[in-house]
Amino acid sequence: MKAITIASGNASESSAEFNLAKYLSPASFYIPSTEVTSSWIENTPFAMWIMEAIRPRTFVELGSLHGVSYFTFCETALRLGSRTRCFAIDTWKGDEHTGFYDETVWAGVKATNEAHYSSSSTLLRQTFDEALVNFSDCGIDLLCPPSARVRQNWFN
Ligand SMILES: C[S@@+](CC[C@H](N)C(=O)[O-])C[C@H]1O[C@@H](n2cnc3c(N)ncnc32)[C@H](O)[C@@H]1O
Repeated sequence: MKAITIASGNASESSAEFNLAKYLSPASFYIPSTEVTSSWIENTPFAMWIMEAIRPRTFVELGSLHGVSYFTFCETALRLGSRTRCFAIDTWKGDEHTGFYDETVWAGVKATNEAHYSSSSTLLRQTFDEALVNFSDCGIDLLCPPSARVRQNWFN
């Protein structure tokens, strides 16, 4: 992907590199139907755009908590009719950064998945390492990584 150059606070209109329309699509303006929120909510237009841009066969999210980001990806794939297989991997127990939480979180995510996304979405209640066996090399087209703090913990 080419970088967008911003000069003096304004994108140069003469630059052939700059074409904002490439980074926006009809899907960018979908309103996700999530009823919970998270600090991730402001990224949902990007999530919706990249699902349309890539139309992955297989999408995986590492760390889904209430599913704000994950269900946005699932919902976008369904709206696009892109037949993406979606997988969320989480212990649904929490961690030292997010905080440890009780079973009501898992119950809520499971209920939402069953009610709206079970035809295309699978929840893997495992650690990231345990879940590796479910995927072949090059078997994931789009991966939503965990937050930087979770990644740091995981690689240590
Ligand atoms: C910051 S939250 C994810 C936020 C979410 N993407 C959203 O939209 O709000 C981090 C999640 O990662 C999970 N987690 C952390 N380390 C994990 C690991 N090694 N394996 C599986 N899940 C893990 C926690 O249980 C927690 O639910």
